[in-house]
Amino acid sequence: MLYKITKKIKRSFGRFLSKIYHQLDRAVAEYYAKSKRPLVREYILSKFFPDPNRSFQRHNSEYEEEKSFEREKSNYEDYKKRNCFNGPESKYEDFIKSHPEVRELAIDIGSGCGWLSVELSRFFKKVIGIEPSKKAVVIAEQLKPVQCKNIEYVNTYAEEGLDKLSIPCKALFVTGCVLGHLPDETVSKICQAVEKKALPGSLLVFAEAWGKEFHAPMWNARTKEWWQANLPSWKIDFLKYNRPEDRPNEHRGFQAVKIK
Ligand SMILES: C[S@@+](CC[C@H](N)C(=O)[O-])C[C@H]1O[C@@H](n2cnc3c(N)ncnc32)[C@H](O)[C@@H]1O
Repeated sequence: MLYKITKKIKRSFGRFLSKIYHQLDRAVAEYYAKSKRPLVREYILSKFFPDPNRSFQRHNSEYEEEKSFEREKSNYEDYKKRNCFNGPESKYEDFIKSHPEVRELAIDIGSGCGWLSVELSRFFKKVIGIEPSKKAVVIAEQLKPVQCKNIEYVNTYAEEGLDKLSIPCKALFVTGCVLGHLPDETVSKICQAVEKKALPGSLLVFAEAWGKEFHAPMWNARTKEWWQANLPSWKIDFLKYNRPEDRPNEHRGFQAVKIK
């Protein structure tokens, strides 16, 4: 009995501390986001607030906010209006259309509220979205048009969930601004899982930063060599879309075919 009570108190206290930590983390990020010196801001954040789960925590707390459904719905309308599905940092649509041989399965890594999964469902027999935020999955299910019966959301981290999927056919693997938020170690694990599960002839489109190496808590750019070393069986074509404002040496997006 006493053991149970102590355990309960410990767990609640842990949750309380974690909540305080993430609120503080967010407040500091927001304060420094206003700074005109992003490098100083990012240095301070990574030095004093290291956290490999920052992306999940940060996004999850936004999904948990009041009115998040209305916000995501209107963001998705905007996403469709601006035709982001074929935006210059991914060109998902052009790439999919140029590979009609892969139509069985698409896997949306870090699917958030499912905008990308819905677009993919027009082309593939089945779409699996992997997303660690339970609330994002709830919103994604609510936003999903009734005709999209071919989408399944799996509520887990990609580095854990990919390995458990059965992928018996050539498939398309995509990310939309997910890996840039995660540390190298996690992204390497995700790449290893994709490397292991994908059959030759599979496709990949990662809308992620590449170029000059850069690391901050919620933003990481990796070199072409880094991506190629972590995806050794893939022939990668780097899209040369320049991020406009603050990072002239950074580009977005790459597409690949698994050649062995
Ligand atoms: C910037 S959002 C992008 C969402 C979606 N791809 C889109 O384009 O709207 C990044 C997403 O990655 C998810 N995420 C964070 N860590 C993850 C992990 N280890 N594995 C898979 N997804 C993760 C977050 O919860 C969040 O939903």
